[in-house]
Amino acid sequence: MLTAAVVAADAKSTSYLRACIEQTGLTDSVMEWAPSIEQHPQPGESVPDIVLLDLAGGTDVSLDFAVHLRRLRPTVCIIACSPLKQPDPDLLMQAMRSGVREFLAHPVDPISLEGALKRIADEQGPGEKSLDRKLIVVMGAKGGVGSTTVAVNLGAQLARTTQKRVILIDLARPMGHVSLLLDLRSRFSFRDATGNLERLDSHFFNALLTAHEKSGLEVLAGATDPDEWEDVMPSALVRVVNVAQSCCDHLVMDMGSNYNVHSRSLLRLARMIMLVAEADVPALWTLEKHLHKLASWGIEPELCRVIINRYHRSDEDAIKAFEKRTKQTVFARLPNDFRQVSEAINLGTPLSRNHNNPLVSNFQQLATRLAGAAAPVVDHAKKGNTIFGLFSNNPKR
Ligand SMILES: Nc1ncnc2c1ncn2[C@@H]1O[C@H](COP(=O)(O)OP(=O)(O)OP(=O)(O)O)[C@@H](O)[C@H]1O
Ligand SMILES: [Mg+2]
Repeated sequence: MLTAAVVAADAKSTSYLRACIEQTGLTDSVMEWAPSIEQHPQPGESVPDIVLLDLAGGTDVSLDFAVHLRRLRPTVCIIACSPLKQPDPDLLMQAMRSGVREFLAHPVDPISLEGALKRIADEQGPGEKSLDRKLIVVMGAKGGVGSTTVAVNLGAQLARTTQKRVILIDLARPMGHVSLLLDLRSRFSFRDATGNLERLDSHFFNALLTAHEKSGLEVLAGATDPDEWEDVMPSALVRVVNVAQSCCDHLVMDMGSNYNVHSRSLLRLARMIMLVAEADVPALWTLEKHLHKLASWGIEPELCRVIINRYHRSDEDAIKAFEKRTKQTVFARLPNDFRQVSEAINLGTPLSRNHNNPLVSNFQQLATRLAGAAAPVVDHAKKGNTIFGLFSNNPKR
């Protein structure tokens, strides 16, 4: 992960550039500076890996800032954003001499920025390369198998076990039930995130969450009307997840059982995809199809985890046959406990440990296993498309 800073003269540009950086999902912290001389960091103060410098705040003052940063940290990577579509050669030369590495046209195109950041991340040492993926996708093999029950209770147990920040995003289609299961009256939903991308930085995202006080979970609510999905671009959901990952330690997503080829980019962000099924013929048949589909999309089988919900001992023969056919070992078996689950749903709470029943213990064990599992290393080989990939000042090149 990269550290980053935004240098801009006004709050609007600062928040726009911050949103662009956070939506790439490639940075884990973003500082904010103004270009004026009083704001210059002092020797000994930390200078991040990447600095996004808005030249609209004044070319000279901004480039002086760049020179100052390079003095403090010669390896800092400065990306200038120019309001001009085609900066004139004199400006480019001046920028280069001040240590600017890349030039982007302002307003910054997040895809170009992502390309520039990926190139910079590529040049870092191998130990620094892995993206910090926190997303655990919970997907139902088919409708009604328990994907929301698993997402809510896994999220609650993760929050309890780790005592860290856990966010649950409800992207189930056509409607999400997470708020209902937790008895939350959410003022905002994922639509407020996808519909405000130009403002979507971590501050804005945090304001969209609804806290479930008792469990510690924080929820980005789902759709309450199928029409809400109409104009949601898959790339917007990717950006929402990137920002969400920068806000928490574990990100759980209820994806329901409804997905298509456009969901591929979203699924590729996951550190783990939990496929929930019951051990009956239709669910296991569909589960097998999903596993093939995900593999055909280039999602490594090791990322997929099969959860058998509403498990009963008599399911073992069907499970053994499934494991043999698919070469996929079942990751967890969650016992059938209709009374406890219905009671929790009716109360609008996660399953409670006070019940001291096998189902709760299974969720606790699952959370403990997931909290300890590291995210796999992500391939950085794919290059992005910066508008002007200008100068390299990286000594490793
Ligand atoms: N382990 C379990 N034991 C008993 N009943 C369960 C269990 N898990 C879920 N259920 C029941 O199964 C039903 C469906 O659960 P849930 O809503 O979580 O499924 P879903 O896959 O999210 O459904 P949908 O496709 O409608 O979103 C609920 O009525 C719930 O009570
Ligand atoms: Mg559901």
